[in-house]
Amino acid sequence: MTKTILRALAGETLPTPPIWMMRQAGRYLPEYRATRAEAGDFLSLCYNPELAAEVTLQPIRRYGFDAAILFADILLLPQALGVDLWFVTGEGPRMTTVTTQEEFDNLGCGEMIHDTLNPVYETVRILSRELPSETTLIGFAGAPWTVATYMIAGKGTKDQGPAHALKAENRAVFDQLIERLTESTIDYLSKQVEAGAEVVKIFDSWAGSLKGEDFIRYAQEPARIITQEMKARFPGLPVIAFPRQAGEGYVGFHAKTGADCVALDDSVTPEWAAEHVQPGGCVQGNLASSHMVTGGQALVDETRRVVKAFSQGPHIFNLGHGITPDADPENVQLMIDTVRGG
Ligand code: CP3
Repeated sequence: MTKTILRALAGETLPTPPIWMMRQAGRYLPEYRATRAEAGDFLSLCYNPELAAEVTLQPIRRYGFDAAILFADILLLPQALGVDLWFVTGEGPRMTTVTTQEEFDNLGCGEMIHDTLNPVYETVRILSRELPSETTLIGFAGAPWTVATYMIAGKGTKDQGPAHALKAENRAVFDQLIERLTESTIDYLSKQVEAGAEVVKIFDSWAGSLKGEDFIRYAQEPARIITQEMKARFPGLPVIAFPRQAGEGYVGFHAKTGADCVALDDSVTPEWAAEHVQPGGCVQGNLASSHMVTGGQALVDETRRVVKAFSQGPHIFNLGHGITPDADPENVQLMIDTVRGG
C-alpha cells in the first residue's frame, strides 16, 4: 500500500492526516543531545552519515511519525559553495559574507558542491535502507532567498535588513547570488533524490519579508524554477514548498509554482487556509509550536481544530514552525495521540 504521506501529496483526503514535525530530530530529545555530544558539535553531526542517520531515526522510533526528514541544515549548501560556516553556542549560525562582485566571483559552482555534500547523500542512502517501509523520507534545501539572507548578513537577522539593502543597492550581485543558489539547490536536491529521498521540501523561512513584486520575483519564482526542474528530472517527484509567513501570498502558490503541497505557518488560521489555500492542493501544518511547550487541554483543542479545519481535503499534520528546545517530549506524544485518536 502506498505510504500515507505520498497519498496526501497526491491529493487524497485521508480519514486521519499523516503527521511529522519540523525539527523533529532536535534538542528537545535527550537521545538527540547524547548523539550530538558524541559527534562533538552540530556541523560534525551533519557531516557524519551514521550519526546523522541515527538522529533522523530517533523520533521515528520514539513516536512513529509518518515521515522522516533528512538531518542536515540549509546552511550546508553555502558552505559547499565556499563560505566559512560555524555555529556560536546559544546564538546561532555565523558565516563569511557575500556582498560584493568579487566575493560572489569567489563562490564555487556546479559539481564542486558535492565534494562537501557527499556525506549528506550517504546519510540519505543509509536512511532509505533503514527506515520502516511505511515511513516517507523527505529531503530538503533552503530556498534561495532565505539562504541568501544568511550569506549576505553572515548570520540570522530579525528583519533580513542586509539582504534587503543589497537588493536595493547592488541588484546585479543580488540577482547573481539568487541565480547561483537556485542552480546549486537543484543539483543538491537532485543528488538527494538519487540517493533515496522520496519527497523534497524547500524551506523559505524568511519569505514573509518579501512584499509585492519582490515576493513574486524572489520567493515564488525560484520555488517555481526549482519545482519545475526537479519534476522534469524526476517525473512524479512530490515537492513541498514552505514560503513561511507569506500570508496572502499562500493563495495560489500551488498553481504558481507547481508545488504539490504548501506548508503553512501558524500566522494564518486553519479555517482561512482551508478556504483559500487548500483548494489548490495538499496543505501541511499548522499547529503553533508553542503548544509543544505548554501542553494541556489547549494543545488538544487546537490540534483537533487544525485536523477538523483541513478534514475536507488533502492534509499533512505538522507544526507551523520547528519545535523548540524547551518543548516537552510528552506533549509531542499528546499531539500525535490527538491527531490519530480524535
Ligand atoms: O527538521 C529537521 O529535523 C531536519 C533538520 C533541519 C535542521 N535545520 C536541523 C537543525 C532542518 C530542515 C533545518 C532547516 C533550517 N536551518 C532552516 C529552515 C527552517 C526554519 O527553522 O526556519 C533554517 C533557517 C536553518 C538555519 C539554522 N540552523 C539556524 C538559524 C540554526 C540555529 C537556530 C537553532 O535552532 O539553534 C540552525 C541549527 C540547527 N539546525 C539545529 C538543528 C537541529 C540546532 C543545532 C543544535 O543541535 O545545536
